[in-house]
Amino acid sequence: MARAVRIQAFGGPENLKLEQIDVGAPGPGQARIRQTAIGLNYIDVYHRTGHYPIGDLPAPIGSEGAGVVDAVGEGVTSLKPGDRVAYVGGPLGAYADERLYPADRLVPLPDWISDEQAAAMMMQGLTAQYLLRRTFPVQSGQTILFHAAAGGVGLIACQWAKALGARVLGTVGSKAKAELAAANGCDVPMLYREEDWVAHVKQETDGKGVPVVYDSVGKDTVKGSFECLQPIGTLVVFGQSSGPVPPIELGQLAKGSYFLTRPSIATYTAARSDLMQGAAELFELVKNGTIKINIAQRFKLEDAAEAHRALEARETTGSTILIP
Ligand SMILES: NC(=O)c1ccc[n+]([C@@H]2O[C@H](COP(=O)([O-])OP(=O)(O)OC[C@H]3O[C@@H](n4cnc5c(N)ncnc54)[C@H](OP(=O)(O)O)[C@@H]3O)[C@@H](O)[C@H]2O)c1
Repeated sequence: MARAVRIQAFGGPENLKLEQIDVGAPGPGQARIRQTAIGLNYIDVYHRTGHYPIGDLPAPIGSEGAGVVDAVGEGVTSLKPGDRVAYVGGPLGAYADERLYPADRLVPLPDWISDEQAAAMMMQGLTAQYLLRRTFPVQSGQTILFHAAAGGVGLIACQWAKALGARVLGTVGSKAKAELAAANGCDVPMLYREEDWVAHVKQETDGKGVPVVYDSVGKDTVKGSFECLQPIGTLVVFGQSSGPVPPIELGQLAKGSYFLTRPSIATYTAARSDLMQGAAELFELVKNGTIKINIAQRFKLEDAAEAHRALEARETTGSTILIP
């Protein structure tokens, strides 16, 4: 028997319960993975609370993990037992010792990436990759605004945007987070709970505003994010950690001929070629030291509820992993 954390009811972290499960043999096209590290992501909170629909309860949870293949099903030729792999997305169920997973969505891991690093960066690193390289490709010399700059996606994105030659303005929830963001490439950390960050962005850009805002905070920031855009600028709303964004009138875009997009990693990695290309770019930048994966919190799998509580209370920085 293996252990898995499952959602018993939609609501608070107390609804996450560790259970014994029978994983069984892999079916056609599947691999069974003995997991060694699991990534904690804000999307796990939306699944637990029911903000993002996941079907009937009790339900599995978790979208990211790393480990070793210990069996493969019929038709799987690309992998064999003993291979080290990681994944992001796909069927929920990462919060477990062992699990089944579609073999064609697994990314083989080179020797120099640890399982912990892989579990910490597949979701957050590939998100930074598609946001900065594909949704709005950042050009050298641009000034950009990235919210929650000291978070998991945020710290990777600050380092990546800096490496692309951008000047990075970032919002953070505390002075300690401001220092951390600054140490990771954020040129101008702003305490959005304490200052008029829209005015600060205007001041930093000689009143012009920025060509792009990456906003994962949602309810509390989207209005201000629009105000920070320069004409024909792009607002990328990719999350809602403060709550769902109220409906946006199309006429609001006409004020500056703005672009608005609500991207998802699921779409950007749906094709295996995109998944592998994104991973190759990310892995190369981690290998050559351009990007450091900051694993700032580690919890035991059985303490997943405590990890959720810390994430929602804005107590975490960088990436968080669960260890089975
Ligand atoms: N669309 C996609 O493809 C995609 C993929 C991955 C992640 N995401 C989104 O990206 C965001 C970051 O994900 P992550 O896993 O790296 O999380 P994270 O940034 O490490 O944690 C969320 C951060 O949001 C900030 N925040 C602002 N208001 C908040 C509030 N009311 N409650 C809680 N947190 C608040 C906090 O930072 P401060 O204290 O500094 O404000 C908090 O640390 C999430 O919104 C997530 O859903 C989207």
